[in-house]
Amino acid sequence: MEQYYIKGGNPLVGEVEIGGAKNAALPILAAAIMTDETVHIDNVPDVRDTNVLLTAMENIGVIVRHEDRHRITINAANVHETVVDDDNIKKIRASYYLIGAMLGKYKHAEVTLPGGCDIGCRAIDQHIKGFRALGADVVVEHGMIKTHAEHLRGSHIYMDVSSVGATINVMMAAAMAEGKTIIENAAKEPHVVDVANFLNSMGASIRGAGTDVIRIKGVSKLHGSEYTIIPDQIEAGTFMFAAAVTRGDVTVRNVIPKHLESITSKLLEIGCEVMEEDDQVRVVCSRPLRHTKVKTLPYPGFPTDMQPQITVALGLSEGTSIVTESIFENRFKYVDELTRMGANIKVEGNTAIIDGVAKYTGAGISAPDLRAGAALVLAALSAEGESLLDNIRYIQRGYEDFHLKLQGLGAQIKLVDSENDYAKFHLLTG
Ligand code: EPU
Repeated sequence: MEQYYIKGGNPLVGEVEIGGAKNAALPILAAAIMTDETVHIDNVPDVRDTNVLLTAMENIGVIVRHEDRHRITINAANVHETVVDDDNIKKIRASYYLIGAMLGKYKHAEVTLPGGCDIGCRAIDQHIKGFRALGADVVVEHGMIKTHAEHLRGSHIYMDVSSVGATINVMMAAAMAEGKTIIENAAKEPHVVDVANFLNSMGASIRGAGTDVIRIKGVSKLHGSEYTIIPDQIEAGTFMFAAAVTRGDVTVRNVIPKHLESITSKLLEIGCEVMEEDDQVRVVCSRPLRHTKVKTLPYPGFPTDMQPQITVALGLSEGTSIVTESIFENRFKYVDELTRMGANIKVEGNTAIIDGVAKYTGAGISAPDLRAGAALVLAALSAEGESLLDNIRYIQRGYEDFHLKLQGLGAQIKLVDSENDYAKFHLLTG
């Protein structure tokens, strides 16, 4: 089993290049099957979730060509089935984007119910409500979602909760429905906008993405396109917080600073300096960190996907901080691991009450999910002594070359997959 061996205590210093946004890439890759023409997509992150999705697409007849590590060509002219029932696809949340894409194009889709990180109940009622509003029959049986429509017709849909997945999924299907669709209380995340821009580049007519109301005029056909995915807001935020917790000086390159505003603003509040330029941000942390309060919210609020990373930083800040998780009900599972490293955090319901400690100490720890896994790496990098992190497959779902990028900033982190490896690296750095 692969693990990360980490020796903490080095301030991270240098520059790191951010890749394409995983949560934009997943729906964009799925949406690429909505045309029979060839689509070229650039800045696709080479992470486990995108690769699982691409394999599932190949299994139904999509031709996927890797022009280079991050540039992928997709052609869906020879799709031979609209049933996706593959063991791996169950493991990723984004499998559900194939429903919106196939329902839009083929008016039929059957896809295994989504998995993904275990961070809460992760309902899909809003997706189903949206598809039904467009005139599709939807049933959930034998672990599959099955949808079919004789005709998809535009509709006026009010989302009961702000959902990234439901907004994107319904937007994809509606792009190829007859007539106009209005989605109210739409999610406004940058990746929602990126998917809308991609669909528009294929000939869709979608206006208002990035606001509460998205208006879509359905078209009968989409065409080929060439598109570059936006930088990953959460990967960038994770490296920004890596600078904070290790008292480092990190320039995070290839980002859209606007997408990072809620993250930047919290870093400033806790005492870091943040210098923004056109497509990079530099985070310098030379003073003791200060306590604060933070509540996760839909964009432009502080992202739930950055909640574990800020909690790790606040665990090292002077005074008492409060973190409230308002999106997912079970996203504090990593706190037990952090406690083993010396953190003083009490979780009550959806709130963590954090009494800052002067330092963490290295320990054997385990990643419970993707973002929590990355946050535990940050904790280990700041800690006194050595840590061994298990279950790093979660991190590999969404961070490309995480340990290599950290090594580039001076971190002592190594991918090990046996006790032998561990012993070797231990001798090297010990
Ligand atoms: N919700 C419903 N009904 C639905 C859909 C969502 O009640 O039909 C609720 C959820 O239970 C949750 C809230 O609405 O409480 C928000 O869920 P959303 O649909 O926005 O999340 P998602 O589409 O399942 C995506 C990302 C997550 C990210 C969230 C929030 C992907 C593949 N996943 O999930 O990313 O946390 O949006 O921004 O895009 C990650 O990358 O680590 C990750 C978990």
